[in-house]
Amino acid sequence: MVPLQQLSYRQGALYAKTQKHVLVCVQARPAGHPRSSCQEKGCAAVWQAFSDEFTARNLWVSGFALTNTGCLGPCHLGPSMLVYPEGIMYSGLKPEDAGVIIDEHLMFDQPVERLLVPADVRAWDHGQNPVRNWRYGFRHGRFL
Ligand code: FES
Repeated sequence: MVPLQQLSYRQGALYAKTQKHVLVCVQARPAGHPRSSCQEKGCAAVWQAFSDEFTARNLWVSGFALTNTGCLGPCHLGPSMLVYPEGIMYSGLKPEDAGVIIDEHLMFDQPVERLLVPADVRAWDHGQNPVRNWRYGFRHGRFL
């Protein structure tokens, strides 16, 4: 049997079923766009911080996944991100928040309250939308 650390990310993801999937918005829009964008608010540094933490902690082969993604909805609050399977959304992120979210939410299932999107945005979020969750589940093999 091949040790888990020697597997590629894709092999590792198949080997160890994904426990949590982090999706970081890296959407860009032209300057002056009325919706602004996470890129305008510094998402590149947030994405890099998550990527660095995943690499440093070897989370890629430990059942965690990290993906950069397009707009998640609350652009004015960005940088934004989602954690599945719970569908919990964070906003207004800074690079230093990556380690905190990993330490508390990914490792111990304790969402970081101070970084959650406001309640009026939460009511809209993906965790409350069964159609989105259903589609996501199919795309990521949860129902296959
Ligand atoms: S641009 Fe990131 S949430 Fe819309």
